[in-house]
Amino acid sequence: MDQKCALVTGAARGIGLATTDLFLEMGWRVAMIDRDGEELTKVAAERDNVQAIIRDVSNPQEVDAMVRDTLAFAGRIDALVNNAGVAEFGPVKDCTFDMWRRVMETNLDGVFLCTQACTDALKETQGAILNIASISGLRASTLRVAYGTSKAAVIQLTKQHAAELGEYNIRVNCVAPGPVKTKLSMAVHSPEIIAAYHDAIPLNRYGSERELAEVICFLCSEKASYVTGQIVAVDGGFDSTGVGLPALRD
Ligand SMILES: NC(=O)c1ccc[n+]([C@@H]2O[C@H](COP(=O)([O-])OP(=O)(O)OC[C@H]3O[C@@H](n4cnc5c(N)ncnc54)[C@H](O)[C@@H]3O)[C@@H](O)[C@H]2O)c1
Repeated sequence: MDQKCALVTGAARGIGLATTDLFLEMGWRVAMIDRDGEELTKVAAERDNVQAIIRDVSNPQEVDAMVRDTLAFAGRIDALVNNAGVAEFGPVKDCTFDMWRRVMETNLDGVFLCTQACTDALKETQGAILNIASISGLRASTLRVAYGTSKAAVIQLTKQHAAELGEYNIRVNCVAPGPVKTKLSMAVHSPEIIAAYHDAIPLNRYGSERELAEVICFLCSEKASYVTGQIVAVDGGFDSTGVGLPALRD
């Protein structure tokens, strides 16, 4: 039981899967959590040192079971990566309460529930929590009334938890990704949106899942032992620049 263990939610694909792979390269074990049982079972079977745990992070009973399953697998939790997320975009007038709740229950309730459920285990290891927000939580933009608000709340939740869990030496940080070509973003990014992002991002491109994983795993590692309560935008420079003005480019 000396081997460290990361619990990664939304691990069946995208950023969560890339993060799983980097933890494995670092020699950690990974409890891979996802509600998409078919995809999770398939990708977990292709990897050693992982346990597929099919659970929904928005359901309190399932979250408790997820922690029990993880402790049965690895005996410890050294890092919790709250990555599971859903995106539904639309104008404010079309955002029904059902849509609002669907986004909030995974993106916000899920982070709260998983953090609450993992805290005792993280106290034992003096471990780390890493929440995934979004540039949509740092800056308001059209069509994201539910998604952007859920991610802004995750940023605040990160600071709340960092403030209270510091005394147990649990560090809590947040990564705010810019656009990454995953199933989630491709469902809501039209070709026009992709082109507009390229214009607005100083590095002129989308990020890769691996580029996100590198920062996530760093913040979970001993190398970041004095870093807590921080929001790190991994976004090609999008957040630090003002309104994109393609006309001002060379
Ligand atoms: N891709 C981007 O451009 C982008 C940008 C900013 C932020 N993010 C955030 O990064 C995170 C990962 O996104 P991604 O692009 O890799 O998405 P993805 O859709 O490729 O993967 C998300 C995974 O989470 C799982 N999931 C969703 N709801 C769940 C729930 N309630 N319980 C358990 N599992 C659940 C899905 O089944 C899926 O496997 C999300 O929080 C997302 O909001 C992504």
